[in-house]
Amino acid sequence: MPSRRKFLQTAAIGLPLIACKNMAKSNTVIKPIVIATWDGGFNVNKAAWEVLNKADGLALDAVEAGAISIENDISCCVGLGANPDRDGKVTLDACIMDHQFNCGSVAFLERIKNPISVARKVMESSPHVFLVGEGAQQFALAQGFELQDGKLSAKAQSEYESWLIKSEYSPVINVEKGAIPAPQKLSNGAINHDTMALVALDSAGNLAGACTTSGMAFKMHGRIGDSPIIGSGLYVDNEVGAVTATGQGEEVIRISGASYIISLMRSGIAPKEACRKAVEKIVNINPEKAKTLQVAFIALDKNGNHGAFAIQPEFTYCVRDLEREEELKCDSYFKSVI
Ligand code: GLY
Repeated sequence: MPSRRKFLQTAAIGLPLIACKNMAKSNTVIKPIVIATWDGGFNVNKAAWEVLNKADGLALDAVEAGAISIENDISCCVGLGANPDRDGKVTLDACIMDHQFNCGSVAFLERIKNPISVARKVMESSPHVFLVGEGAQQFALAQGFELQDGKLSAKAQSEYESWLIKSEYSPVINVEKGAIPAPQKLSNGAINHDTMALVALDSAGNLAGACTTSGMAFKMHGRIGDSPIIGSGLYVDNEVGAVTATGQGEEVIRISGASYIISLMRSGIAPKEACRKAVEKIVNINPEKAKTLQVAFIALDKNGNHGAFAIQPEFTYCVRDLEREEELKCDSYFKSVI
């Protein structure tokens, strides 16, 4: 768990090597960078950085590596260790997108350990963009992924049993914070909502993004959020930037959040300001309801500038580049959780 945020002096070794290799025609040095949601993004960035920090490391491989690292952590709230839906099934959503508008998604996928890699296979080895449910699982098995036993993790089993006592659905904002583990939980101790999303720029100047989630805990069976929806939970336009989202997926879908932010950035608006405008659009749809919602966006432009904005305070995101490895506080529409 990243409790200490060190400003790493990695530049002394890494910068000259990569900088010399990657001078754009304009003589602008492209510095690789990855940003990821929540404090869990700190370790996710570490996995992504191992790829990005190589001279030929691809942003696409980096974001997949970052997402796999958290999906593999059974103690975490993304992947098969996560909380189930209200029928007791863990159903996973993920998507991935590269710098050439190639993209792949899976949703409502059961018993497969790495949905992000299945999403990449959809992108690279199928004629489609989006597979769901049994079809996604069949595709995964045909591609060599193993069927897992479908048992809940001990933590998820215990939280599900607690939830069953009342079986009420009442999302709590910011429970993603501290995805490993969440410090804010439902009154019954359960975590309600988990998403890990990251976007990266590689030293060749290409962007990519990945998003993986179990969605809301105790959701209706069949519910799919924004995370696997290209244009909502994730969008990459290599001329402009890469954007991803976390929080209440229904609200992100309503405004096609990620592509909305990309269109603002295309018009010259900086990443943070573009994220702010998207948050304001959500809030303005229903200001009263927004008081009980959390949605946050993170954005990276093609030059490596980044920014974020959230509805509620306490959202953080993590940044890793040649000069730093840190968790940043994010500005928010509301200044205190109501
Ligand atoms: N943002 C993830 C979800 O709503 O499922």
